[in-house]
Amino acid sequence: MPTTTWNRHHVLSLADFTAAEYNTVLQTAASFQEVLSRRTKKVPTLQGQVVANLFFEASTRTRSSFELAAKRLSADTLNFTASTSSMTKGETILDTAKTYLAMGTDIMVIRHREAGVPNAIAAEMDRLGVKVSVLNAGDGQHEHPSQGLLDLFTICTLIDPNNPRLELLKGKKIAIVGDILHSRVARSNIWSLTASGAQVHLAAPPTLLPKLFAEYIFEEAEANSQHLITSSSPQSPNRQLFIHWQLEPALQDADFVMTLRLQKERMTAHLLPSLREYHQLFGITRTKLQLCNPNVKVLHPGPVNRGVEISSELMDDPEFSLIQSQVTSGVAVRMALLYLLGSSKVERI
Ligand code: NCD
Repeated sequence: MPTTTWNRHHVLSLADFTAAEYNTVLQTAASFQEVLSRRTKKVPTLQGQVVANLFFEASTRTRSSFELAAKRLSADTLNFTASTSSMTKGETILDTAKTYLAMGTDIMVIRHREAGVPNAIAAEMDRLGVKVSVLNAGDGQHEHPSQGLLDLFTICTLIDPNNPRLELLKGKKIAIVGDILHSRVARSNIWSLTASGAQVHLAAPPTLLPKLFAEYIFEEAEANSQHLITSSSPQSPNRQLFIHWQLEPALQDADFVMTLRLQKERMTAHLLPSLREYHQLFGITRTKLQLCNPNVKVLHPGPVNRGVEISSELMDDPEFSLIQSQVTSGVAVRMALLYLLGSSKVERI
Protein backbone atom coordinates (compact mmCIF):
# COMPACT_ATOMS: atom_id res chain seq x y z
CA MET A 1 0.00 0.00 0.00
CA PRO A 2 1.23 3.58 -0.66
CA THR A 3 2.20 5.85 2.23
CA THR A 4 -0.99 7.48 3.36
CA THR A 5 -2.15 10.85 4.61
CA TRP A 6 -5.37 10.00 6.36
CA ASN A 7 -6.84 11.17 9.67
CA ARG A 8 -10.48 11.14 8.70
CA HIS A 9 -12.96 9.14 10.72
CA HIS A 10 -15.99 9.75 8.47
CA VAL A 11 -16.36 10.60 4.77
CA LEU A 12 -19.39 12.89 4.53
CA SER A 13 -18.39 15.51 1.96
CA LEU A 14 -15.50 16.48 -0.31
CA ALA A 15 -15.80 20.17 0.60
CA ASP A 16 -12.85 20.07 3.01
CA PHE A 17 -10.74 17.35 1.37
CA THR A 18 -7.09 18.31 1.02
CA ALA A 19 -4.90 17.57 -2.01
CA ALA A 20 -3.00 15.01 0.10
CA GLU A 21 -6.23 13.21 0.95
CA TYR A 22 -7.32 13.09 -2.69
CA ASN A 23 -3.95 11.66 -3.65
CA THR A 24 -4.10 9.08 -0.86
CA VAL A 25 -7.48 7.87 -2.13
CA LEU A 26 -6.25 7.82 -5.76
CA GLN A 27 -3.09 5.88 -4.94
CA THR A 28 -4.84 3.44 -2.63
CA ALA A 29 -7.53 2.85 -5.26
CA ALA A 30 -4.81 2.20 -7.86
CA SER A 31 -3.35 -0.53 -5.61
CA PHE A 32 -6.78 -2.10 -5.27
CA GLN A 33 -7.37 -1.83 -9.02
CA GLU A 34 -4.27 -3.99 -9.36
CA VAL A 35 -5.66 -6.47 -6.81
CA LEU A 36 -8.90 -6.62 -8.83
CA SER A 37 -6.96 -7.57 -11.95
CA ARG A 38 -5.50 -10.67 -10.24
CA ARG A 39 -7.01 -14.13 -10.39
CA THR A 40 -7.75 -14.03 -6.67
CA LYS A 41 -9.42 -10.68 -6.21
CA LYS A 42 -9.78 -10.80 -2.45
CA VAL A 43 -7.50 -9.50 0.32
CA PRO A 44 -7.87 -10.13 4.09
CA THR A 45 -7.56 -6.44 5.02
CA LEU A 46 -10.91 -5.95 6.79
CA GLN A 47 -11.38 -9.50 8.03
CA GLY A 48 -13.66 -9.52 11.08
CA GLN A 49 -14.99 -5.99 10.45
CA VAL A 50 -18.66 -5.39 9.71
CA VAL A 51 -19.75 -3.03 6.94
CA ALA A 52 -23.47 -2.16 6.98
CA ASN A 53 -25.04 -0.73 3.82
CA LEU A 54 -27.94 1.36 5.06
CA PHE A 55 -29.74 2.46 1.90
CA PHE A 56 -32.87 4.43 2.68
CA GLU A 57 -33.17 5.37 -1.02
CA ALA A 58 -33.03 3.34 -4.25
CA SER A 59 -29.65 2.46 -5.74
CA THR A 60 -28.19 -0.05 -8.18
CA ARG A 61 -24.50 0.64 -8.76
CA THR A 62 -23.51 2.48 -5.56
CA ARG A 63 -24.99 -0.15 -3.31
CA SER A 64 -23.67 -3.17 -5.25
CA SER A 65 -20.30 -1.51 -5.61
CA PHE A 66 -19.97 -0.88 -1.84
CA GLU A 67 -21.07 -4.43 -1.14
CA LEU A 68 -18.57 -5.94 -3.55
CA ALA A 69 -15.82 -3.63 -2.28
CA ALA A 70 -16.45 -4.73 1.32
CA LYS A 71 -16.48 -8.41 0.28
CA ARG A 72 -13.24 -8.06 -1.69
CA LEU A 73 -11.69 -6.73 1.55
CA SER A 74 -13.05 -9.78 3.43
CA ALA A 75 -15.39 -7.73 5.64
CA ASP A 76 -18.75 -9.11 6.72
CA THR A 77 -21.58 -7.16 5.09
CA LEU A 78 -25.08 -6.33 6.25
CA ASN A 79 -27.63 -4.98 3.81
CA PHE A 80 -30.63 -2.92 4.72
CA THR A 81 -33.51 -1.82 2.53
CA ALA A 82 -35.92 0.73 4.01
CA SER A 83 -39.02 -0.75 2.37
CA THR A 84 -38.52 -4.18 4.01
CA SER A 85 -37.20 -2.91 7.36
CA SER A 86 -38.71 -2.07 10.76
CA MET A 87 -38.89 1.57 9.59
CA THR A 88 -42.20 0.52 8.05
CA LYS A 89 -43.23 -0.16 11.69
CA GLY A 90 -42.21 3.33 12.83
CA GLU A 91 -38.56 2.88 13.87
CA THR A 92 -36.53 6.09 13.52
CA ILE A 93 -33.35 6.41 11.45
CA LEU A 94 -31.17 6.89 14.54
CA ASP A 95 -32.69 3.83 16.22
CA THR A 96 -32.05 1.82 13.05
CA ALA A 97 -28.43 2.98 13.09
CA LYS A 98 -28.09 2.06 16.78
CA THR A 99 -29.46 -1.42 16.04
CA TYR A 100 -26.64 -1.93 13.53
CA LEU A 101 -24.19 -0.49 16.05
CA ALA A 102 -25.31 -3.05 18.64
CA MET A 103 -24.53 -5.82 16.13
CA GLY A 104 -20.92 -4.67 15.99
CA THR A 105 -20.95 -2.60 12.81
CA ASP A 106 -17.62 -0.86 12.15
CA ILE A 107 -18.51 1.16 9.03
CA MET A 108 -21.97 2.42 8.07
CA VAL A 109 -22.48 3.30 4.41
CA ILE A 110 -25.54 5.53 4.28
CA ARG A 111 -27.78 6.80 1.49
CA HIS A 112 -30.85 8.90 2.18
CA ARG A 113 -33.16 11.14 0.19
CA GLU A 114 -32.74 13.93 2.77
CA ALA A 115 -29.53 15.97 2.87
CA GLY A 116 -27.70 15.71 6.21
CA VAL A 117 -28.80 12.24 7.38
CA PRO A 118 -25.27 10.70 7.21
CA ASN A 119 -23.94 13.75 9.12
CA ALA A 120 -26.63 13.31 11.78
CA ILE A 121 -25.81 9.62 12.22
CA ALA A 122 -22.06 10.38 12.34
CA ALA A 123 -22.70 13.05 15.00
CA GLU A 124 -24.72 10.57 17.05
CA MET A 125 -21.98 7.90 16.80
CA ASP A 126 -19.38 10.47 17.92
CA ARG A 127 -21.65 11.57 20.78
CA LEU A 128 -21.91 7.95 21.90
CA GLY A 129 -18.12 7.73 21.83
CA VAL A 130 -18.09 4.67 19.54
CA LYS A 131 -15.54 4.06 16.79
CA VAL A 132 -18.05 3.57 13.99
CA SER A 133 -17.22 5.37 10.73
CA VAL A 134 -19.92 6.80 8.49
CA LEU A 135 -19.56 6.97 4.72
CA ASN A 136 -22.03 9.13 2.81
CA ALA A 137 -23.32 7.18 -0.21
CA GLY A 138 -25.48 10.10 -1.39
CA ASP A 139 -27.70 12.40 0.71
CA GLY A 140 -30.48 14.34 -0.99
CA GLN A 141 -29.10 17.11 -3.16
CA HIS A 142 -26.09 17.56 -0.89
CA GLU A 143 -23.13 15.30 -1.75
CA HIS A 144 -22.03 11.94 -3.11
CA PRO A 145 -18.33 11.83 -2.20
CA SER A 146 -17.55 8.28 -3.35
CA GLN A 147 -18.99 9.12 -6.80
CA GLY A 148 -16.90 12.30 -6.95
CA LEU A 149 -13.80 10.28 -6.04
CA LEU A 150 -14.48 7.52 -8.54
CA ASP A 151 -15.04 10.08 -11.30
CA LEU A 152 -11.72 11.69 -10.34
CA PHE A 153 -10.00 8.30 -10.34
CA THR A 154 -11.51 7.37 -13.74
CA ILE A 155 -10.19 10.57 -15.32
CA CYS A 156 -6.78 10.51 -13.63
CA THR A 157 -6.12 6.84 -14.51
CA LEU A 158 -7.01 7.58 -18.12
CA ILE A 159 -4.30 10.26 -18.18
CA ASP A 160 -1.69 8.27 -16.21
CA PRO A 161 -2.75 4.68 -15.46
CA ASN A 162 0.34 3.98 -13.32
CA ASN A 163 0.27 7.05 -11.14
CA PRO A 164 -3.15 8.72 -10.84
CA ARG A 165 -2.84 12.02 -8.96
CA LEU A 166 -4.72 15.27 -8.56
CA GLU A 167 -2.22 17.49 -10.40
CA LEU A 168 -2.90 15.65 -13.68
CA LEU A 169 -6.08 17.68 -14.09
CA LYS A 170 -4.46 21.08 -13.71
CA GLY A 171 -5.58 23.29 -16.62
CA LYS A 172 -7.94 20.67 -18.11
CA LYS A 173 -11.37 21.89 -19.12
CA ILE A 174 -14.21 19.84 -17.68
CA ALA A 175 -17.86 20.51 -18.55
CA ILE A 176 -20.63 19.33 -16.22
CA VAL A 177 -23.92 19.36 -18.07
CA GLY A 178 -27.50 18.73 -16.97
CA ASP A 179 -29.61 18.83 -13.84
CA ILE A 180 -27.01 20.51 -11.65
CA LEU A 181 -29.55 21.98 -9.23
CA HIS A 182 -30.67 18.56 -7.98
CA SER A 183 -27.34 16.78 -8.33
CA ARG A 184 -25.30 15.69 -5.32
CA VAL A 185 -22.84 14.19 -7.84
CA ALA A 186 -22.24 17.64 -9.36
CA ARG A 187 -21.62 19.16 -5.93
CA SER A 188 -19.01 16.55 -4.99
CA ASN A 189 -17.40 16.81 -8.42
CA ILE A 190 -17.19 20.58 -8.15
CA TRP A 191 -15.12 20.20 -4.97
CA SER A 192 -12.70 17.60 -6.31
CA LEU A 193 -12.27 19.03 -9.79
CA THR A 194 -11.80 22.64 -8.72
CA ALA A 195 -9.32 21.45 -6.05
CA SER A 196 -7.28 19.83 -8.84
CA GLY A 197 -6.86 23.12 -10.70
CA ALA A 198 -9.15 22.08 -13.56
CA GLN A 199 -11.44 24.68 -15.11
CA VAL A 200 -14.95 23.50 -14.36
CA HIS A 201 -17.75 24.73 -16.64
CA LEU A 202 -21.35 24.10 -15.60
CA ALA A 203 -24.04 24.16 -18.30
CA ALA A 204 -27.80 23.84 -17.87
CA PRO A 205 -31.01 25.78 -18.45
CA PRO A 206 -31.46 28.53 -15.79
CA THR A 207 -34.20 26.53 -14.06
CA LEU A 208 -31.64 23.77 -13.35
CA LEU A 209 -28.70 26.08 -12.67
CA PRO A 210 -29.59 29.17 -10.64
CA LYS A 211 -27.44 32.24 -11.17
CA LEU A 212 -26.13 32.17 -7.60
CA PHE A 213 -25.40 28.44 -7.60
CA ALA A 214 -21.62 28.70 -7.30
CA GLU A 215 -21.71 31.34 -4.57
CA TYR A 216 -24.34 29.35 -2.75
CA ILE A 217 -22.38 26.11 -2.58
CA PHE A 218 -19.08 27.75 -1.68
CA GLU A 219 -20.79 29.77 1.05
CA GLU A 220 -22.69 26.76 2.36
CA ALA A 221 -19.47 24.80 2.68
CA GLU A 222 -17.76 27.69 4.43
CA ALA A 223 -20.61 27.97 6.90
CA ASN A 224 -20.47 24.24 7.61
CA SER A 225 -16.76 23.85 8.05
CA GLN A 226 -14.26 25.95 9.95
CA HIS A 227 -11.57 24.15 8.01
CA LEU A 228 -12.57 25.97 4.85
CA ILE A 229 -11.78 29.42 6.09
CA THR A 230 -8.21 28.63 7.10
CA SER A 231 -5.51 29.74 4.69
CA SER A 232 -4.27 26.18 4.11
CA SER A 233 -7.71 25.27 2.84
CA PRO A 234 -8.03 23.91 -0.69
CA GLN A 235 -11.08 26.18 -1.09
CA SER A 236 -9.08 29.13 -2.32
CA PRO A 237 -10.29 31.90 -4.60
CA ASN A 238 -8.18 30.17 -7.28
CA ARG A 239 -10.92 27.64 -7.83
CA GLN A 240 -12.21 28.04 -11.35
CA LEU A 241 -15.93 27.54 -11.77
CA PHE A 242 -17.92 28.97 -14.68
CA ILE A 243 -21.66 29.01 -15.25
CA HIS A 244 -23.34 28.83 -18.67
CA TRP A 245 -26.98 28.74 -19.68
CA GLN A 246 -25.98 27.47 -23.10
CA LEU A 247 -24.15 24.29 -23.92
CA GLU A 248 -21.70 25.49 -26.56
CA PRO A 249 -19.35 27.66 -24.45
CA ALA A 250 -19.02 24.83 -21.93
CA LEU A 251 -18.20 22.25 -24.63
CA GLN A 252 -15.75 24.43 -26.57
CA ASP A 253 -12.33 22.67 -26.31
CA ALA A 254 -13.46 20.61 -23.30
CA ASP A 255 -11.28 17.62 -22.36
CA PHE A 256 -14.03 15.85 -20.42
CA VAL A 257 -17.82 16.16 -20.43
CA MET A 258 -19.79 14.92 -17.44
CA THR A 259 -23.47 14.46 -18.16
CA LEU A 260 -26.11 14.27 -15.43
CA ARG A 261 -29.52 12.65 -15.24
CA LEU A 262 -32.64 14.81 -15.09
CA GLN A 263 -33.76 13.98 -11.54
CA LYS A 264 -37.50 14.05 -12.05
CA GLU A 265 -38.11 12.56 -8.60
CA ARG A 266 -36.58 15.69 -6.99
CA MET A 267 -38.30 18.26 -9.21
CA THR A 268 -41.09 20.05 -7.40
CA ALA A 269 -42.23 22.10 -10.39
CA HIS A 270 -42.29 21.84 -14.17
CA LEU A 271 -38.77 23.06 -14.81
CA LEU A 272 -38.51 22.08 -18.48
CA PRO A 273 -40.78 22.63 -21.49
CA SER A 274 -40.23 19.07 -22.82
CA LEU A 275 -37.63 16.31 -22.78
CA ARG A 276 -37.32 16.59 -26.55
CA GLU A 277 -36.42 20.30 -26.32
CA TYR A 278 -34.03 19.60 -23.45
CA HIS A 279 -32.25 16.97 -25.55
CA GLN A 280 -32.01 19.35 -28.50
CA LEU A 281 -30.45 22.10 -26.39
CA PHE A 282 -28.41 20.23 -23.75
CA GLY A 283 -28.35 16.55 -24.76
CA ILE A 284 -24.81 15.34 -25.55
CA THR A 285 -24.39 13.75 -28.99
CA ARG A 286 -21.43 12.89 -31.20
CA THR A 287 -22.15 15.95 -33.35
CA LYS A 288 -22.06 18.31 -30.37
CA LEU A 289 -18.78 16.76 -29.21
CA GLN A 290 -17.12 18.18 -32.34
CA LEU A 291 -16.80 21.44 -30.39
CA CYS A 292 -14.59 19.70 -27.81
CA ASN A 293 -10.96 18.66 -27.78
CA PRO A 294 -10.71 15.77 -30.34
CA ASN A 295 -9.73 13.35 -27.53
CA VAL A 296 -12.72 14.29 -25.39
CA LYS A 297 -14.25 11.63 -23.13
CA VAL A 298 -17.77 11.54 -21.73
CA LEU A 299 -18.82 10.45 -18.24
CA HIS A 300 -22.19 9.81 -16.61
CA PRO A 301 -22.75 8.56 -13.03
CA GLY A 302 -25.81 6.53 -14.08
CA PRO A 303 -28.62 5.69 -14.14
CA VAL A 304 -28.97 7.15 -17.64
CA ASN A 305 -32.10 8.40 -19.39
CA ARG A 306 -31.02 7.22 -22.83
CA GLY A 307 -31.75 9.78 -25.54
CA VAL A 308 -32.36 12.59 -23.02
CA GLU A 309 -29.12 13.81 -21.42
CA ILE A 310 -26.95 11.72 -23.77
CA SER A 311 -27.68 9.99 -27.06
CA SER A 312 -27.96 6.24 -26.90
CA GLU A 313 -25.25 5.70 -29.55
CA LEU A 314 -22.75 7.96 -27.75
CA MET A 315 -23.38 6.21 -24.45
CA ASP A 316 -22.35 2.88 -26.02
CA ASP A 317 -19.43 4.27 -28.05
CA PRO A 318 -16.17 3.04 -26.46
CA GLU A 319 -14.21 5.74 -28.29
CA PHE A 320 -15.86 8.45 -26.17
CA SER A 321 -17.73 6.87 -23.29
CA LEU A 322 -16.11 6.22 -19.90
CA ILE A 323 -19.39 5.09 -18.34
CA GLN A 324 -18.39 1.44 -17.93
CA SER A 325 -14.94 2.36 -16.59
CA GLN A 326 -16.64 4.55 -14.00
CA VAL A 327 -18.57 1.53 -12.74
CA THR A 328 -15.41 -0.61 -12.69
CA SER A 329 -13.38 2.12 -10.96
CA GLY A 330 -16.14 2.43 -8.38
CA VAL A 331 -15.24 -0.88 -6.73
CA ALA A 332 -11.52 0.00 -6.36
CA VAL A 333 -12.29 3.50 -5.05
CA ARG A 334 -14.82 2.17 -2.53
CA MET A 335 -12.32 -0.48 -1.43
CA ALA A 336 -9.86 2.36 -0.85
CA LEU A 337 -12.35 4.33 1.25
CA LEU A 338 -13.38 1.31 3.34
CA TYR A 339 -9.73 0.35 3.79
CA LEU A 340 -8.70 3.87 4.88
CA LEU A 341 -11.56 4.15 7.36
CA GLY A 342 -11.28 0.53 8.53
CA SER A 343 -7.52 0.40 9.00
CA SER A 344 -7.42 3.68 10.92
CA LYS A 345 -9.89 2.01 13.28
CA VAL A 346 -7.60 -0.96 13.84
CA GLU A 347 -4.66 1.35 14.69
CA ARG A 348 -6.73 3.20 17.29
CA ILE A 349 -7.76 0.02 19.14
C1 NCD B 1 -26.44 9.20 -8.80
C2 NCD B 1 -27.11 9.39 -7.46
O1 NCD B 1 -27.82 8.51 -6.97
O2 NCD B 1 -26.88 10.43 -6.93
N1 NCD B 1 -26.22 7.90 -9.20
C3 NCD B 1 -25.26 7.14 -8.63
O3 NCD B 1 -25.08 7.10 -7.44
N2 NCD B 1 -24.46 6.44 -9.46
C4 NCD B 1 -27.02 10.06 -9.83
C5 NCD B 1 -28.46 9.94 -10.17
O4 NCD B 1 -29.27 9.38 -9.45
O5 NCD B 1 -28.82 10.49 -11.22
